[in-house]
Amino acid sequence: MNLIILGPPGSGKGTQSDFLVEQYHFVHLSTGDLLRDEIVAKSEIGLSAKSFIDQGKYVPDDVMNGIIDNKITNLKDNFILDGYPRTIGQVKFLETVLQKINHKIDVVLYLEIKEQTIVDRLLARLVCPVCKTTYNRISMPPKVDTLCDKDQTPLIQRTDDTDSNKIVTRLNEYNVSTQPLVDYFRSKGLLKVIDANQDNTTIRQQLKQIIEAIHG
Ligand code: AP5
Ligand code: MG
Repeated sequence: MNLIILGPPGSGKGTQSDFLVEQYHFVHLSTGDLLRDEIVAKSEIGLSAKSFIDQGKYVPDDVMNGIIDNKITNLKDNFILDGYPRTIGQVKFLETVLQKINHKIDVVLYLEIKEQTIVDRLLARLVCPVCKTTYNRISMPPKVDTLCDKDQTPLIQRTDDTDSNKIVTRLNEYNVSTQPLVDYFRSKGLLKVIDANQDNTTIRQQLKQIIEAIHG
């Protein structure tokens, strides 16, 4: 089965994708992580994406669709799309690509969350630049200082998490361009809503129930 994990910045898309990968061996495709890798590699895509990301703006659809086309065509079933699609244009493109390769989306997990919770979580987030594991100074701290539990790399703060103005821009982009996708997927009968304000253990139990009800 294939799924989309949808929700505003900081709603837990990456955190819950990691859990689903561990639990069910999905392949995790995070467009944010892919773009950050392109930036580190100083590729053409990375150089053009950097200024959008640093300002909290969306990267244009043609760039994002190109990245996904390239990645998804080689994927077998059992993938999670995290951070894509984010616009109606991206949804339409995805539908065409999936039809071409004979795959479908089985469920869209929508992480619904209050704006204040988002700001608090993002300002305290730390990430491993190597393995991408996400931590939180308050709710999910690493075991030792600010080192990744898995590979002991020093954790960093993302450049788009550094001040609340950037976070507000990201939320505005989300509200204008991505929130309409919630109704779209609901109308297709694919949407499952999860209250992402809850603690991690409760969210994970609910995700398990949803996946196992579909998967059998
Ligand atoms: P992307 O990296 O996807 O950023 P985002 O959508 O803003 O989402 P985040 O990664 O910030 O949050 P998350 O939902 O993954 O939350 P997390 O699990 O880390 O994209 C970055 C940028 O790339 C975009 O702004 C855009 O510029 C560009 N881009 C990417 N895709 C694009 C596309 N398709 N089109 C156009 N542009 C695109 O959790 C957040 C924090 O909360 C962590 O600290 C975590 O530990 C903590 N936490 C999680 N769950 C809980 C819990 N239940 N309780 C307490 N703490 C929790
Ligand atoms: Mg993420």
